[in-house]
Amino acid sequence: MSDVVIAVPGWYTDIQRRALLDAANIAGMNPLRLINDTTAVALGYGITKGDLPEAADSPRHVCFIDIGHSNYSVSVTAFSKGQLTVKSTAYDRNFGGRDFDWALVQHFSEEFKTKYKIDVLSSPKAVFRLSTGCERLKKVLSANAEAPLNVESIMNDIDASSSMKREQFEQMTDHLLVRVIAPIEEAIRKAGLTVEQIDAVELVGGSIRVPAIKDRIQAYFPGKTLGFTLNQDEAVARGATFACASLSPVFRVREFAVHDVTPYPIKVMWDKEPGNPDEDTELVVFPQDNPIPSTKILTFYRKGPFELEARYQEGASLPEVINPWVGKLTIKNVEKPSSGDLTCVKVKARLNLHGIMNFEGAYMVEEVEKEETVTIGEAEEKKEEKKLVKKMQRKGDCSVVGQYTSLAQTAVEGMTEKEGNMHAEDKLVMETEVGLLRLGPVLPLTVAGSQKRSRGIRLRHAGQAGRSLCHLRAREREIVSPLRPSRF
Ligand SMILES: Nc1ncnc2c1ncn2[C@@H]1O[C@H](COP(=O)(O)OP(=O)(O)OP(=O)(O)O)[C@@H](O)[C@H]1O
Ligand SMILES: [Mg+2]
Repeated sequence: MSDVVIAVPGWYTDIQRRALLDAANIAGMNPLRLINDTTAVALGYGITKGDLPEAADSPRHVCFIDIGHSNYSVSVTAFSKGQLTVKSTAYDRNFGGRDFDWALVQHFSEEFKTKYKIDVLSSPKAVFRLSTGCERLKKVLSANAEAPLNVESIMNDIDASSSMKREQFEQMTDHLLVRVIAPIEEAIRKAGLTVEQIDAVELVGGSIRVPAIKDRIQAYFPGKTLGFTLNQDEAVARGATFACASLSPVFRVREFAVHDVTPYPIKVMWDKEPGNPDEDTELVVFPQDNPIPSTKILTFYRKGPFELEARYQEGASLPEVINPWVGKLTIKNVEKPSSGDLTCVKVKARLNLHGIMNFEGAYMVEEVEKEETVTIGEAEEKKEEKKLVKKMQRKGDCSVVGQYTSLAQTAVEGMTEKEGNMHAEDKLVMETEVGLLRLGPVLPLTVAGSQKRSRGIRLRHAGQAGRSLCHLRAREREIVSPLRPSRF
């Protein structure tokens, strides 16, 4: 099976989505769609609901709130029978369970300075051990008023321990808790709704289990029952699975249309045509919250070849370090028209199902006069007449060259081959391990990760010499002796 639908944070940009598609292709997958994760949750919610309003009635508005480990997403989605429409989304890209863990790490590392005379933050290993303990403590505090912290051999052979009350945890994470409402407020405002017009609130993501987060959300939706009907850990994967099944020809799934939107505005820029000083030089082709997929036709009047550049509009709140450049199109062989001196060129721009923008070609059109039969007059006075009508007619395609941030096909092929080789090598190691296991208990099969690759190569040589179990048995001493003996 290679058809997949991959869920991504809705705030992923063009370059991030292209990189993910390249990675999926290199891994031998066939990505049918990148789906925004809150949209996947919405699909999983809607596809099984039998009581959605008819298309003619006002839709059911549901606010989905997903707080995970590092990322917080909200969407407001309208449901009608057989379809969902994402009305708006809002994000806090750097908010989630890890911020709460880090607040705890900072607190306990201060405490341990005086208690054990150690500086946890000076040792990455100690920070890792303390973070694991703090995450455990945080989870226990979700169901208990107090929780212990025990970290074995945190550093300098010291076993550290402490405890915390939920009240104290909530006080020390207040600077995080105040950030819970902003994305919800933004999403509802962008959807053009009020809190009262939200019919249901559904919560997903592991961090939604923190009682103080739940309380803040509940206070924002007074009188509404918060929904926990979706599996908090699996809701995204479940929705993506439905999306994959609907797109794949192998399965039959209930028809359910998904109308999603793009999070950032994309503009197209060009140079002025000489002799036309009043011409604009840019246009926002796909504004924020533009439906996906979507196609737009851009019209230009040109004498010769020209270039277009697509980029995210200034002010689009892209993740830091993301280059706003999306792509470039060079339009060649623009022919001079027989009449007039400017050729009308139409360029097709498409925001596809993955949320990626491409220019899908360009063609020339010209105005022609055609004789057509038209009906004039009314009722009994109606009559048909032949008339010359001006019409735009497609003249021919322009040859175009597009440049985007995706990897070149040859690079993808090269990496796919490398990946295939590594996979084959690992598979051989696994098969040989299974084979050796069947030979009996004499073989030490626990090997440190760092040794795995070299052992794989050794075993590959063995495999080349003959991979049958018989042969392996004959060579078992030779193959196995250099390996580290099992600790068990
Ligand atoms: N019982 C609990 N109480 C508090 N926090 C919890 C609990 N269970 C899980 N978490 C936290 O939920 C977070 C993981 O949530 P989730 O699995 O939704 O994240 P993710 O989808 O992997 O990450 P992201 O969506 O941010 O990319 C972790 O920070 C974890 O500590
Ligand atoms: Mg998540």
